[in-house]
Amino acid sequence: VEQVILMLVAAYLLGSIPSGVWIGKAFFHIDIRRHGSGNIGTTNTYRVLGPIAGTVVMALDISKGAVATLLPTFFHVYTISPLVFGLAAILGHTFSIFDKFKGGKAVATSAGMLLAYKPAFFFLALAIWVLVILLTSMVSLASMVGFTLTTIAIFFTHDVFLSILAAILTVFIFYRHRANISRIRNGTESMVPFGLGHLL
Ligand code: G3P
Repeated sequence: VEQVILMLVAAYLLGSIPSGVWIGKAFFHIDIRRHGSGNIGTTNTYRVLGPIAGTVVMALDISKGAVATLLPTFFHVYTISPLVFGLAAILGHTFSIFDKFKGGKAVATSAGMLLAYKPAFFFLALAIWVLVILLTSMVSLASMVGFTLTTIAIFFTHDVFLSILAAILTVFIFYRHRANISRIRNGTESMVPFGLGHLL
């Protein structure tokens, strides 16, 4: 029991690492929370600091979810689902101990959990995400559509725990994107500089 608690704390702390904030401060002397959408994730890092920093933050945030989900396998703990450790990292990312219990929108960390647990769903989500970005130029919309459709696909697996978790995460991701949703509705959501969204 002690080992499981320690691992859950480790997963939470790992998830808490605000990679976008730290990379911005360390390499650019910029606090990304004060620029663009103010979010700490891949999209805002890309928006404020450019594609290399954005890609690094995406890789790190996906890794946080993936490594946390793999922790029980590393330590041969099979008493509870690895998804619980992934969830601890997602909670860390969104309610970070290093960021006054604020944080990101849970997209990349949740995707990392899928990558470690059921990689096929990660690649499905990634493919939908890329497609919606290319069609609309809006990353926020792509994150919401990608998560919703992937969750529907997960329902067909009869993995009850993953299905429930994916449904809860989808609702949470929409809630975290509520500012984006109102910008999408009134046509002011920021767009990436590529994709067909600019033609709409
Ligand atoms: O990963 C978060 C993304 O879906 C939206 O980010 O910065 O445009 O609010 P942002």
